[in-house]
Amino acid sequence: MNVQNTDLAVAGKHTADATTVEEGLAIQEQQAKFDSVSATEVAMQNTLLTPRFYTTDFDELDAIDVSPVREDWDQLIAQMVSDPNKGHFRKNEDWDTVDWDNMEPGLKKEFIDFLISSCTAEFSGCVLYKEMKRRGANKDITQLFQLMARDEARHAGFINDALREAGVAVNLGFLTQKKKYTYFRPKFIYYATYLSEKIGYARYITIFRHLQAKPEHRFHPIFKWFEEWCNDEFSHGEAFALLMKTDPKLTSGKNVYWIKFFLTAVYATMYVRDHQRPAFHEALGVDPDWYAHEVFTKTSALSEQIFPITLDIDHPRWQPTLERLHRANVQIAEGKKAGGVGGKLKELAGSAKAALCFASLYTIPAKKHVVPESTRLEPVY
Ligand SMILES: [Fe+2]
Ligand SMILES: [Fe+2]
Repeated sequence: MNVQNTDLAVAGKHTADATTVEEGLAIQEQQAKFDSVSATEVAMQNTLLTPRFYTTDFDELDAIDVSPVREDWDQLIAQMVSDPNKGHFRKNEDWDTVDWDNMEPGLKKEFIDFLISSCTAEFSGCVLYKEMKRRGANKDITQLFQLMARDEARHAGFINDALREAGVAVNLGFLTQKKKYTYFRPKFIYYATYLSEKIGYARYITIFRHLQAKPEHRFHPIFKWFEEWCNDEFSHGEAFALLMKTDPKLTSGKNVYWIKFFLTAVYATMYVRDHQRPAFHEALGVDPDWYAHEVFTKTSALSEQIFPITLDIDHPRWQPTLERLHRANVQIAEGKKAGGVGGKLKELAGSAKAALCFASLYTIPAKKHVVPESTRLEPVY
């Protein structure tokens, strides 16, 4: 994007008011002069546990015909076009002063890590959706992806506002150009993105409701914005459910094994990632095991709208295997840190354990059910 040309147009504007993704990104580009190198380096990392950037076969995606779900589609798009959250994602009088200097160092480190990771994940959606909009010719598809990219640009911009106060904002323009892109074929994009939108909704609403009941644990104002935020993610998830609904093959036959794979991978990744942040969860007054179970329960209930199976998270093998997976992950991290031959061996042993844990989780029999005729849901949590 050409900075000079957009400088005037975006001067004094905030990402919350941007009505297109292009405008949102231009505003962020202007602010990037002040962004931090270290936060951007963290966002650049590509491991199994860090948010990635994706690319796909955009022509195949562009060829989707939404006629079979036209009525639900038009309703959803109309709701997104009405843009109920325009202007919402910005600091206002509800934004209490954050005392970054006196925040307990362990908490500060984990919280900043949480914000960088969330910002990268939001921006990952933005980049993928924007690219689909840019490459496509199908009016339904490009319109949807334009709307979703608009929302994700606002979300990422808002988290970056919070990070900027701590002096560590992510340079999103740099990320777009330099971060590695992982190729996923379209059907994997549907499964992974649908799940990440729905689990995102479940995560945000669970924290929001918890802090509504226990406001003394709200150690940062950004949590006050989570309700409207998760409604955006909910709509994005609905859009992917409708996209999958256009082709019954995507959610039947052999593809059910892929659905199970993505469910297991998304749940397990969340569990391990959250357990790396004990101080953060303690400050929120949230037991990460309770939180994981709560989020999985909500996500499973939602995903019944389109997936014919859900994971049996109450199976006797589920929780202990997640705990072992977490310990294997700690071992991998320790090995990496130690370095040398000993460190490498420790890392390899940890990876082997993690692979076995994943296989053990994957082979727990799934719960089957009949997918309802109508896909559309409303956020009820
Ligand atoms: Fe988002
Ligand atoms: Fe989203």
